[in-house]
Amino acid sequence: MLEALSPQPADALLGLIKLYNADPRPEKIDLGVGVYRTATGATPVFKAIKGAEARLLETQQSKSYLGPEGDMGFVRALIPYVFGAGFDTARVDGMQAPGGTGAVRLAIEVARRAGVRRILMGTPSWPNHAQIVAASGLELVTFRHVTAEGTADLDALKAALADAGPGDAVLLHGCCHNPSGVDYTEAQWDEIAPLLAARAVLPLLDLAYQGLGAGMEADAYGLRTVLAAVPEALVAYSCDKNFGLYRDRVGAFYAVTGDADALARAMANGASIARASWSMPPDHGAAAVREVLADAALTREWLAELDDMRGRMRQVRDRLAAAQQIGPIAMAPLGIQNGLFSILPLTGEQILTLREAHGIYMAGSGRINIAGLTTDNIETFIDALRAVTA
Ligand code: LMR
Repeated sequence: MLEALSPQPADALLGLIKLYNADPRPEKIDLGVGVYRTATGATPVFKAIKGAEARLLETQQSKSYLGPEGDMGFVRALIPYVFGAGFDTARVDGMQAPGGTGAVRLAIEVARRAGVRRILMGTPSWPNHAQIVAASGLELVTFRHVTAEGTADLDALKAALADAGPGDAVLLHGCCHNPSGVDYTEAQWDEIAPLLAARAVLPLLDLAYQGLGAGMEADAYGLRTVLAAVPEALVAYSCDKNFGLYRDRVGAFYAVTGDADALARAMANGASIARASWSMPPDHGAAAVREVLADAALTREWLAELDDMRGRMRQVRDRLAAAQQIGPIAMAPLGIQNGLFSILPLTGEQILTLREAHGIYMAGSGRINIAGLTTDNIETFIDALRAVTA
């Protein structure tokens, strides 16, 4: 029976982790998967999370099941950070999900059950977005996300929306666009929000990097502007990056609507999809986030750690931007892009040469993880880029 299975390519991005680990060169540089690194290349557990974990160790009385929604204290504690302190909490409900991926999966499946047939999405996007849409059986309609000038392509989104209506959902990155680092500006979000309302499409807002762009509040501008304009939306949220919880898989799925019955049905559908998929989400990371957010001192510590991360990524971006031009690559735009990622317009051959000759690992799209560049390796990286583009 099993011989009937078709071969599957390994996930290209996750495959880089293995390739990098197998490379014996000590000077190798990992710019692959999206993980934050300090100036010395470490990915430490947040101090605030360590503090929360110490408390859990002392106080957690049971590891008994919580149900398909997971830790609702965690889900509710995030609401003011994501939706804003003044948000009408009667409009929103949510549930825990295994990472941002689980949350996107829930959002797309709930949208499908609600009658959505097409997902509109700017490209390039996080490769897993298209895979999740494909797994749901929905039609993917793409439009261009980045203009030739390197800005977010509002006209392309407008053109896609002009052909869209009820039965369509549009998947938008809330901030720190993955893979391009090119976000819609606040002025663009101000235009997008009423358009979404006018076309009656369902917004699916993916917020996986809040706090890593311009700050916790600023990074929520697009999401909050959209939610102020539209009657309903779905949100996929990840704490994997902004709490450094990657392998603990900490995400949340939210539905927003003024219709209390519809809200309850969105949650009931989410719960039934979760039950049939993973039954209940892993607890530990979400419990640690809840502990952080329940304690003012741990919250301050977490926000300060997030500020440091953001500051360091800005420094890396400033250094890259200062290179101005490397071969045909204009580097200045990297200075104004946001978050962990930017795309370098390299050929497949150049990307391979960077890997084989220089030990530099990046996604096949030319996406680099800005945080993979450290005090020790950034000049080596710039020199290697010059060498392969010369
Ligand atoms: C990334 O894009 O590198 C991260 O979101 C990790 C992942 O799951 O792909």
